[in-house]
Amino acid sequence: MKYLTWFILFIATTALGLQSSGETAKASQRVFRLDGGDVTYVVGINDSGQLQMVYWGKRLPATQEFASPKPVPSASSFDMSSNTTPQEFAGWGEGLYVEPDLKITFPDGNRDLVLKYASHTASKDELDVVMKDISREIYVKVRYHMDPATGIVRRSAEVSNRTGAPIAIEQVASGTYHLPRANNYQLHYVTGRWAGEWDLQAQPIHGGKTVLESRRGTTGSQNNPWVMIDHTTDHDQDQGDVWFATLGWSGSWQIAIEQDAVKGVRITGGPNTFDFSYYLKSGETFQTPYFYGGFSDHGVGGASRLLHRFEVDSLLPHAPHPKLRPVLYNSWEATTFNVNEAGQMALAEKAASIGVERFVMDDGWFGQRNDDHAGLGDWTVNTAKFPHGLKPLIDKVHSLNMDFGLWVEPEMVNPNSDLYRKHPDWVLNFKGRPRTEGRNQLVLNLARKDVHDYVFQVLDKLLNENDIAFLKWDYNRNWSEPGWPAVPIEEQKNVYVDFTRNYYDILRKLREKHPNLEIESCSGGGSRVDLGVLHLTDEVWPSDNTDAYDRLFLQEGFTYAYTPAVMMAWVTESPTWVNHRTLSLDYRFLSAMQGSLGIGADLNKWTAEDFAIAKKMIATYKSIRETVQRGDLYRLMSPREGEQSVTESVSRDGKQVVTFAFLHSSSQLYPFPRIYLRGLDEDATYKLNIVDGKMHEDTPQQATGAYWMHHGADVDLRGDFKAAMFILDRQ
Ligand code: GLA
Repeated sequence: MKYLTWFILFIATTALGLQSSGETAKASQRVFRLDGGDVTYVVGINDSGQLQMVYWGKRLPATQEFASPKPVPSASSFDMSSNTTPQEFAGWGEGLYVEPDLKITFPDGNRDLVLKYASHTASKDELDVVMKDISREIYVKVRYHMDPATGIVRRSAEVSNRTGAPIAIEQVASGTYHLPRANNYQLHYVTGRWAGEWDLQAQPIHGGKTVLESRRGTTGSQNNPWVMIDHTTDHDQDQGDVWFATLGWSGSWQIAIEQDAVKGVRITGGPNTFDFSYYLKSGETFQTPYFYGGFSDHGVGGASRLLHRFEVDSLLPHAPHPKLRPVLYNSWEATTFNVNEAGQMALAEKAASIGVERFVMDDGWFGQRNDDHAGLGDWTVNTAKFPHGLKPLIDKVHSLNMDFGLWVEPEMVNPNSDLYRKHPDWVLNFKGRPRTEGRNQLVLNLARKDVHDYVFQVLDKLLNENDIAFLKWDYNRNWSEPGWPAVPIEEQKNVYVDFTRNYYDILRKLREKHPNLEIESCSGGGSRVDLGVLHLTDEVWPSDNTDAYDRLFLQEGFTYAYTPAVMMAWVTESPTWVNHRTLSLDYRFLSAMQGSLGIGADLNKWTAEDFAIAKKMIATYKSIRETVQRGDLYRLMSPREGEQSVTESVSRDGKQVVTFAFLHSSSQLYPFPRIYLRGLDEDATYKLNIVDGKMHEDTPQQATGAYWMHHGADVDLRGDFKAAMFILDRQ
């Protein structure tokens, strides 16, 4: 009876013209299909009026038809249908125990929410399905966009309150992705902490729920908002079915991976539900972050390459033609807070002599910033260090044919600052409670309009008055006491969302006003990297850990989710501050050249030989950077799995192939395992160019793609922390 009522309602809404139709979804259709890249994504309205997943996987022929989905019958009175039916967006009601997409408390105390189909619009790459509560005027527009090139789906939801009264949204996700019932899924994700980010984890998916999250106010490094799930038997990088999901949200977030009572797997992502509430007035609409999902039948390697391509071609600022990363120099590890005009000019001259293209002055140039106890918040030039302002230094940098970048940390304040003395109420706090400091600093409440405006004005002024090409935007602690006492109690938790929205708004406005400005997202390392911030920044700082050996591990984890085009990697001093490990300059360069190259060493300590090596390496990097930053990355040997790591990048036009090989430690006379290249044209001829290290004497000078892929190449590395690099040029 219930189904019948709903079916009649469906017909009735059609007749009333409440739904419109697009190319692929006719008015009478109950099934909607999106195709992109090598992926097909199909959802439908089931007999209960729920929006149900039908298919997500390898692209199917256009002629393939799909029946309307049927709800999964209740397995028992304990496992009711609402829990096992793969609902794309479920309200908390109807006895739902799995992760809901939306949970609301209404002013009258009602907390039941049952969403049913109301209408839809569809076009080739887009689908919007409007769901409505069975009795209350709560509408949810469930939105899909399919990227035509990669088949990556972008999910989001818009929750509209037309009830005439405010509501408290206590949980809201961007949507839920579903994988078919199976026994052998393996979940990949990353864990981390400061100086130890991007640590890859893999575990089988069993019954129950794994929640990856940040409760920290921003993205965090404890987990990153990205997962991959493979369904392969042999765990080869480039084979087997892999699904992935990743959030575009730089606030507290949550991705729940849950195996339900019938072994279906659901992936629900959105703002973190802990301590969450969003007060939505009548007439207002809440827009969730984007939650991206993709599929590859070429293993985790293929899935990464799809993500890289999507990021470069569709997501980054200036996509599909984001600018190649210039080789930069950063003063932080050389000078820490001891910056001044003469010292920075001397470093700039040395940096320019090796081919650096961007000179970045880090922390210490403003307010009373002589260490990390003071100054944050006071964004005026320290005149003891720069008596004539920044102009002489910037002019000098320009005269050396480099552009100029500057470090800022705009969302933070030291209690020892003029700003805090003037506006102690501007920080996150609970009235009358202690304010926990991290690195002697507090977090400004960016959700406040006055704070938002102040931060924008400070940065805008800095950029108006100085010729600055690049900001390294840092964020060096997580939240504590997330209170917002200035607004009514019921609105105070809006801080979780409004802070992040205002952060994005400032980035957007700065970019609009200063179209040539580039920005790096840094958070004491890689604590603010996600597809939300990547839409508004040009590069990210993956970790403060600059040990070139540790970086092999960090960079591997990073590239599962993010493109080397944004992965900044500096060559720094040896022994490193991190592990006191001694590494040759060649090794440090080759490790960093797998990403977007920077130099962070103290050039005052370098010998003439160091300068010569650096000059050569930077020149080489410029000849391969397009391949590294835009090409297809193959992870051939993982640092996690033995004494070697090898990566290979193939340029988009297939003409250049760059391979980096690292030996951690040789033992018992074992030679380096043979390297089998991937992604080459079998029949084409590739000429070998050894940039660094040695290869076996019998290695041909040129050979077919088939040879390099099936016979393979032998590098001759022996000892500890050795590296090699070779290029194959297609003839
Ligand atoms: C953070 C950044 C570093 C450096 C310092 C400056 O730790 O990650 O690169 O900029 O702040 O204080």
